This record gives sequence, C-alpha cells and structure tokens, in this order.
Amino acid sequence: MRRFEDPAALQAWARDVRARGETIGFVPTMGYLHAGHLSLMRIARPRCDHLVVSIFVNPLQFAPTDDLGRYPRDEAGDAAKCTAEGVDVLFFPTPATMYPPGFQTHLTVGPLAAPLCGTSRAGHFEGVVTVVLKLFNLVQPTVAVFGEKDYQQLAVIRRMVRDFNLAVEVASGPTVREADGLAMSSRNAYLDPEQRTQALSLHRALDEAEQAVAAGTDPATLIARTRAILREQSPAEIDYVDLLDATELTPVTALDRPVVLAVAVHFGGTRLIDNRVLRP
Ligand code: PAF
Repeated sequence: MRRFEDPAALQAWARDVRARGETIGFVPTMGYLHAGHLSLMRIARPRCDHLVVSIFVNPLQFAPTDDLGRYPRDEAGDAAKCTAEGVDVLFFPTPATMYPPGFQTHLTVGPLAAPLCGTSRAGHFEGVVTVVLKLFNLVQPTVAVFGEKDYQQLAVIRRMVRDFNLAVEVASGPTVREADGLAMSSRNAYLDPEQRTQALSLHRALDEAEQAVAAGTDPATLIARTRAILREQSPAEIDYVDLLDATELTPVTALDRPVVLAVAVHFGGTRLIDNRVLRP
C-alpha cells in the first residue's frame, strides 16, 4: 500500500493512472475505521483497478461547538485495516495542505441541506461538499462509495455531482450494524456502557416505525410514536425526528411514496444519527 500526504503528489499519481486508462475507486473517510468503512471498501474494490482511501478529519465540516478536538483517531490501526482490505493508496493529508493560507473558496448547498443535520449543524454540508469536491479533484475517482447511514450527506453529494457534471459515479453501501442493531459509527467510541444501551432505542424506534408503516399509520402518528419510543427508552435529548421525501428531503403529509425517517439524538455529549427508508 502506498501512502501519500502531499495532495499534489497524490494528484500526479492519479493523473498517471487515469492516463493509462485504468480506473480508481475511492472511499473518503475521517478515519477511526470500523466495519462500516470496510464494507464500503469491499464495494469499491471489485469495481476499480486502484482503490484509494482518504483519512482526513475535515475541520470545515465541524462547528466550533462540535467534537473536532476530540474526534477519535487511530492512524496505525487504520493503516493496518486498509492494508488488510487490499487498499492500494492511503491518502493522509493535513489541514495545512488541504487549506493552505489564502484558501477562501467554499461551495454552498441548496434546500437539500436545509432540514435534519443542516438545521442543527449550520455550515456542515458546505464543509462536506467543499472537501469532497477537493478530494475528487485530487483522487480523480471513477467511482466513490459513501455510507447510507449519512443519508443526507449522500443526497447532498449525489446532487453536487449532478449539478457540476462531475465524471464520478457515486455508489452507496448499506448501514452496517452491531449484533444488537446499533449503527456503526466512529462516535460510538464516546458512549459509556449506559449510553451504549440507551442508544439501542434508535434502532428499536426505526424497527417499530417500519412495522407501523406496514400497518398503515399516518406521518404525524409515526413521528409522535418514534419520539415517544426514544424518550421512554432513555433520558436522551432528541435533536430531530423527521419524515421526509426520500429523494428531495422535503416534508411529506401522506405516506404515498418512498420516505426517509431520520433521527438524531444526544446521549450525554454524543450525538448519534440513524435512518430508515420506508416504502409504503
Ligand atoms: O462521512 C465522512 O466521513 C465525511 O463527511 C467525509 C465524506 C469523508 C467528508 O469529510
């Protein structure tokens, strides 16, 4: 596995690869890799000649009150996992090389970034698409794979690719869960045992919602019931419980099309998200 820290060196490598007519698969990450990340690498691996993984905790997508300073890191462990997955190139840039003095150009995002995490984390998706566009320009992937756990992020990135006619296919991988249903997340590392148990309410609430939709419930009842389950199972502070059109992320008043039920909840100082696409 080759390792690059310098964006220009990585870009020169990618240019040579593409000039030879070979393909590049890409999994962008913020590191502290878990089975969810590895599943994305396994989706990308057979679809490309060269698999690139980036590890970069992108300061642009964190608000001053977010967890940038304590975001978990494990450089050596991540490198070992990438080697085991057959990754060809690990890209490990630094904030100083990604955003050198004078950096001042940022993308903005439209209505897709307005609800859900866009409301509680102002500027987050602008930071995400700005870094992803930079990473795409450096890595020059033919296919890039993102996790469906970050449902809104995936929607925003797909739209950026469409809006800017980027020559990259965006693929996605399903949420990978622990045996008890908790969605894998690097932030699970922050949970103490009691919060870890409380966090199972996310998965339980989504399971119940799926059954309620199959039984013909309406959106208002569904949201109220989901909130009640989250509250009754734990003292968690709910950030949002929202039911939106699965593509445009706009509010729905009837369950007459695919919708996404998205939840974000604070367990102590840890904010976790999860979602379920529901097809009436
Ligand atoms: O999902 C993530 O880990 C990050 O938001 C991403 C896509 C790597 C951009 O920093």
